[in-house]
Amino acid sequence: MPARILELAGADIHIFATPEDACRAAAAEVARAIDAAKKARGRAVLGLATGRTPVPLYERLVAMHKERALSFTGTSTYNLDEYYPISPADPRSYRSYMDQHLCRHVDLAPNRTHVLDGTVPEAFAAEHAALYDRMIAAEGGLDFQLLGIGRNGHIGFNEPTQMPVDEALKLPTRLVVLHPVTLADAAAEFPAAADIPTRALTLGVAPILAARSILVLAFGPKKAEPLARALTGPMTAELPASLLQSAAGRVTCMVDEAAAGGLE
Ligand code: PGA
Repeated sequence: MPARILELAGADIHIFATPEDACRAAAAEVARAIDAAKKARGRAVLGLATGRTPVPLYERLVAMHKERALSFTGTSTYNLDEYYPISPADPRSYRSYMDQHLCRHVDLAPNRTHVLDGTVPEAFAAEHAALYDRMIAAEGGLDFQLLGIGRNGHIGFNEPTQMPVDEALKLPTRLVVLHPVTLADAAAEFPAAADIPTRALTLGVAPILAARSILVLAFGPKKAEPLARALTGPMTAELPASLLQSAAGRVTCMVDEAAAGGLE
């Protein structure tokens, strides 16, 4: 149970004592989303995220699966992003992350776990990204999108830009150049600076915001400022998480006390 619930900018903010408590509730939410989508339309399509934040969520989902409280049959997953270029076999790829934290432990069909392909030749990257959007659309769109928030306010690898809000809201899945703050954070995974990929493939702002429900996780004091600006400031492409305000009524944030520090 959250300690407190706030409503800001059309989002429900559930504040928990610890990330583990938040991830327990988030896992129950994932299970509910799968169940509701399967009942409504015979399948569930989840947008998933990587990074440090959702690790306890995936642990909980795996535990629920082992306890036979959760099955992924009839479920497809589409990951938010992938470094570029990177091999899926590289332990630092997000394909490896998903395999390590979720896929190999549960009953997700391997042909239904989609991650953007960091090996696609650059000349085909735009086509590959457009195909990813079309595959999601062909499955009837995302029922549920899991999101983290970057220190610079990015969602997926939609990085801060100067473009007008109406253009940013239309951004499709594409190849992007990573922001200096993102590169600094990636240094934890890539200790040799020369190895840090400077680009990535990311699900666009438009397909993220089209999800029928969106769950944002944010933990720790470094997320307090971007979270507060996203929920209490103006919508701006300079803080992509603020664009979530355009999905008012479909957004839930599950955060710990430290990340909620700027909200009250
Ligand atoms: P993190 O990344 O979970 O590793 O903090 C979140 C993000 O950049 O979206």
